[in-house]
Amino acid sequence: MRKGFLTFAAVGLLATGSMAACGDDSSSNDAGGDTAKKPKIGVILPDSKSSARWETADRRFLKAAFDAAGVESDIQNAQNDKNAFQTIADQMITSGVTTLMIVNLDSGTGKAVLDKAKSQGVATIDYDRLTLGGSAQYYVSFDNEAVGKLQGEGLVKCLTEKGVKNPTVAYLNGSPTDNNATLFKNGYDSVLKPKFESKEYTKGPDQSVPDWDPAQAATIFEQMLTQTGGKIDGVLSANDGLGNAAISVLKKNKLNGKVPVTGQDADVTGLQNILAGDQCMTVYKAVKKEADAAAELAIAVAKGERKETGQTVKDPESGRDVPSVLLEPKAIDKATVKDVVADGYVDKAKLCTGAYAALCTANGIS
Ligand code: BGC
Repeated sequence: MRKGFLTFAAVGLLATGSMAACGDDSSSNDAGGDTAKKPKIGVILPDSKSSARWETADRRFLKAAFDAAGVESDIQNAQNDKNAFQTIADQMITSGVTTLMIVNLDSGTGKAVLDKAKSQGVATIDYDRLTLGGSAQYYVSFDNEAVGKLQGEGLVKCLTEKGVKNPTVAYLNGSPTDNNATLFKNGYDSVLKPKFESKEYTKGPDQSVPDWDPAQAATIFEQMLTQTGGKIDGVLSANDGLGNAAISVLKKNKLNGKVPVTGQDADVTGLQNILAGDQCMTVYKAVKKEADAAAELAIAVAKGERKETGQTVKDPESGRDVPSVLLEPKAIDKATVKDVVADGYVDKAKLCTGAYAALCTANGIS
């Protein structure tokens, strides 16, 4: 099921020198490549507020993948604190991790951590977010422009269904320090910009939300609504947390359900908002596949093996082609919420609580 990854991995396994040593002129096995060393993987997650996924999905699936491979792991969360991020990385390196996998909080601090790990002979992986100018040996994520494209298309579909003429669309973008937020925006702009240019749609307020913080998103969206005199017909929100913030403001103004809002991550709240008719769609990223692919690479590089991923992403800052695994995202609407449950991503018992029980039944979630 790991489309495009396993195939390449199977043919591309070269048990040679370490990847981290690539680019150095130093001898081969100095970067986690000592085959006598037992792999130990350190993972630093970014926070637990910007999305439920990190603690409810990524941690669980990564741990399961390492446990299944019989590999020791240490998964920690920096709770959006850049100093803590660096301290955790230092502690992990001191404790002898052979691979460090990070979800950076911004490229600057991410790069410092990756470079330090590399200098200490620790293999590195960028997980989900690319560290611009960084030195990670691999990047494992989703096709993030495709995520944004699905959001743009989803919003167009909802606006069309509602029959809104010349809708004003507001943007709630992700964190300006997250390269993914740029890619998501490129994706939804590719769908919506032509509509703004042809005057079929009107471009409303467009703002980035620092740290993907839902609390700030609510304040920003409240201001957007005031500033436009309530004239917002659709909200392109970059993830479910920001979407839920916009929905909470729309609710206060009795506009929920009337103004379509997009999302991403298929978290429980996002899916409940979809079932209730308050959210137009979300994007489901099968984090289990991302975690499995990343764990497999993390273990391989720790052993000094080199895997061919068959894909690269160009780091726009350094121009480096970073070997990558990019998975396919999937749009989810009311009719397909059940697919996310069937995939084991969210628990039916958590989703179908209280008033949502009847909505779950009505939408075939069993
Ligand atoms: C991830 C999203 C997540 C966001 C906020 C992005 O880098 O790709 O899945 O919603 O960060 O944590």
